[in-house]
Amino acid sequence: MHSHGHDPNSGGAPDVVVVGGGVIGLVTAWRAAQRGLRVTVVDPEPGGGAARVAAGMLAAVTELHHGEQTLLALNLASARRYPAFAAELEEATGLGVGFRPCGTLAVALDADDRAHLRELHALQRRSGLESEWLTGRECRRLEPMLAPGVRGGLRVDGDHQVDPRRLARALVAACERAGVTLLRTSVRELLVRGDRARGVVLADTEGSAGTELAAGQVVLAAGSLSGRLAGVPAEAVPPVRPVKGQVLRLTVPAAYAPFLSRTVRAVVRGGNVYLVPRENGELVVGATSEEMGWDTTVTAGGVYELLRDAHELIPGITELPLTETRAGLRPASPDNAPLLGPTALPGLHLATGHHRNGVLLTPVTGDVMAEVLTTGVLPSDARPFTPRRFPAPVVREEQPA
Ligand code: GLY
Repeated sequence: MHSHGHDPNSGGAPDVVVVGGGVIGLVTAWRAAQRGLRVTVVDPEPGGGAARVAAGMLAAVTELHHGEQTLLALNLASARRYPAFAAELEEATGLGVGFRPCGTLAVALDADDRAHLRELHALQRRSGLESEWLTGRECRRLEPMLAPGVRGGLRVDGDHQVDPRRLARALVAACERAGVTLLRTSVRELLVRGDRARGVVLADTEGSAGTELAAGQVVLAAGSLSGRLAGVPAEAVPPVRPVKGQVLRLTVPAAYAPFLSRTVRAVVRGGNVYLVPRENGELVVGATSEEMGWDTTVTAGGVYELLRDAHELIPGITELPLTETRAGLRPASPDNAPLLGPTALPGLHLATGHHRNGVLLTPVTGDVMAEVLTTGVLPSDARPFTPRRFPAPVVREEQPA
């Protein structure tokens, strides 16, 4: 019997193949499946990727930068969606994602840091964002573990957190329940025929040559590896590069709790350091920002700098067990904003380039991608993030006949 319906279990070619099963690929697949599309995600380890390392700050306001107002709008749109998004995911899977509306305190340790924070505060206010200037004493009243030398800070009650590992696990489960096929293998190359993406060729497995997986549309959501997929024509290759971040995990013993009640961060010697306290006692300390290619080595220098800077902020951390060190790769685009939607190659979409904001932008990315995959139209709030904003690399053209 033949069925032409969209029963995801009925076999046959999927409507959409998503290359990459990190949080961005998974949310795209989940939302698209909810809208009736048959979706396959290809990834050797769905739920892995940079979210395994990320601290999970939803820092639309505290990570605001000059010249990034357009990105701010998307970040805020996603931050607003988080409470309902987390609730829906928990409801769909029975799995918590650790969304914690805890707020953030950004502090200054010396006069330079304070000048920098004052500037950030002015920029936040010009942008209509909620942020309150506090004296050092007021900061320490909120967070008594802060160093006595803290010179002032910004209280941002709207920058919350989620646990990215739990988020990734819940997204895997949500995909499975929505009928998404998860293929635990890698993609060898994009399948292009007649000037259109037609699916992917899977990596060879033992004894069998690469299998073709045909699909109407392909979404490239492979994080920092997105620019390396074979078979993508030059004009559609995403301009993403890896930016390494080393991150530590400490544990706050129950006897010390509450060690911190919100995310605490600072810029120390020009580098960002943040401490994100989870309800379960995990304390995440991040992050370096290094242009080192695809290297994910945890270095003595990286760990040293993070601990040194975190210790200046919260001297008591030296008492805590250090339980994990890890490095991940942020997928950075030339303007630090994501690449969403159709490329110059018909049938090929991007959902990558989220740089420092992948976890924050997960809800809005899912909605935007599901919309463009079902209607062919990129929603207006995502149009500034079209991959076509970057000129294609120059390719020598044949002389016309
Ligand atoms: N947004 C935090 C980071 O990328 O380090």
